[in-house]
Amino acid sequence: MTSRSTNNKILPAGEIAGGAAGRKVFVRTYGCQMNVYDSGRMAEVLAPQGYSQTETLEDADLVILNTCHIREKAAEKVYSELGRLRKIKDERARAGKPTLIGVAGCVAQAEGEEISRRAPVVDLVFGPQSYHRLPDLLVRAAGGAKVVETEFDIDEKFEHLAEQSKRMPLARAASAFLTVQEGCDKFCTFCVVPYTRGAEVSRPLGQILQEAEGLAAAGVREITLLGQNVNAWHGEGPDGRPWGLGRLLRRLAEVDGLDRLRYTTSHPRDMDDELIAAHRDMPELMPYLHLPVQSGSDRILAAMNRKHGRDDYFRLVDRIREASPGLALSGDFIVGFPGETDADFADTMDLVRRVGYASCFSFKYSQRPGTPGAAMADQLPEAVKSTRLAELQTLLSDQQRAFNASRLGITCDVLLEKKGRQAGQLTGKSPWLQAVQVDAPDALIGTIQPVEIVDIGANSLFGRLAGGQYGSISPVDGSRQEAAF
Ligand code: SAH
Ligand code: SF4
Ligand code: F3S
Repeated sequence: MTSRSTNNKILPAGEIAGGAAGRKVFVRTYGCQMNVYDSGRMAEVLAPQGYSQTETLEDADLVILNTCHIREKAAEKVYSELGRLRKIKDERARAGKPTLIGVAGCVAQAEGEEISRRAPVVDLVFGPQSYHRLPDLLVRAAGGAKVVETEFDIDEKFEHLAEQSKRMPLARAASAFLTVQEGCDKFCTFCVVPYTRGAEVSRPLGQILQEAEGLAAAGVREITLLGQNVNAWHGEGPDGRPWGLGRLLRRLAEVDGLDRLRYTTSHPRDMDDELIAAHRDMPELMPYLHLPVQSGSDRILAAMNRKHGRDDYFRLVDRIREASPGLALSGDFIVGFPGETDADFADTMDLVRRVGYASCFSFKYSQRPGTPGAAMADQLPEAVKSTRLAELQTLLSDQQRAFNASRLGITCDVLLEKKGRQAGQLTGKSPWLQAVQVDAPDALIGTIQPVEIVDIGANSLFGRLAGGQYGSISPVDGSRQEAAF
């Protein structure tokens, strides 16, 4: 039996779904940071229902796969994981322990009931807009129903997030995500996001401020604003005037305790003057920008429906670098889009050489069901895509190495986030989003310290506390204390 929910009832905090007191949930997250954020919120919805988190699959009474549909491989991973889960569920059943298995996120939204048909081990399927209904869905799944919940109700999700942020029950790390915008109206011809996350919706300013203040009060020092098109965020200011992301960032910088702000992912078309000026004026806004261009060929950019050409991108990068000369750029590239010729690919390589990136993601084009790109003629052979990807990645890795090497010997602020790999070491983040391993005491976790970069590794930088001194920190509240530099 399949039941599709039209019931918005949310169980009050403390009411236990299916007698779940003392039960454990395992959440595995695939895909983008928005899924990471959503997984955190799911854990918060489940905590008052009696679920604590576990890292051990075999111990979990509830397993949630928060999935990504962006490329074929991402979706296939989910099905192979479900095969593994079937065995664990069977073993636990033999020991008299029932297990509920849920598939959330973008594969759930895209495939809906097809998932439980293909993988009968799945008890509930719910899309990215529905996780706040989890307590109710769990009650129904525990009762034996196959639950599929893929309604789009983003406003309800945002309202629920606002309610939840008032409670803020869980301890936070020094750095946190905050979703300010979801969905996308751009319809790039390769991309599933407009179908899995729906139309572009901005969260109201008041909700964002409330959540940011809660995070700061819980010790968060750095917030990354999230959205599939984060720089398309728009809201209404207290003065009733329209606000864009640049204005929002300025307001967030006023929140006591928030020292660092970032945002991702931006579309080149939505980088307005105010946002560029924010990079020029705001020390809190980190000098790092993820600004995907996807291709360096005008012909391919048009076929991708990116709504900008390569010269538009060059001009934009020039303006951003003029405003913030030290800013590190990052991006995403797709190689092997239908019809991409050697000349088109050469344009992409040329664009990368001219722009110079600090770090990038690059992918082989993957045909996504239901997108216009999937139906285009001239799909390229896998071998061509592989060769082009290898060539591009060699160039991007060289650029990344050169960028990292350019930090050697400098002193920069590092947000120390957690224990490092070695004893006596902490892992932190540079302003340019590089991981930095620093010899420092645990008491400095959650603080920002000046660090001298003394070595460059393959995946991270190594540093030591600069000047051999740091500000005294309060072990009680971990409050902000920068060294006087
Ligand atoms: N909203 C963001 C990116 C969303 S998806 C933006 O507009 O840039 C993250 C990245 O996945 C994209 O930037 C793109 O490079 C890649 N991607 C999306 N669909 C893809 C597909 N069908 N094949 C290969 N890569 C894809
Ligand atoms: Fe996908 Fe394009 Fe929207 Fe980014 S802008 S989410 S790539 S459709
Ligand atoms: Fe993947 Fe959905 Fe994010 S498809 S990249 S999890 S928006």
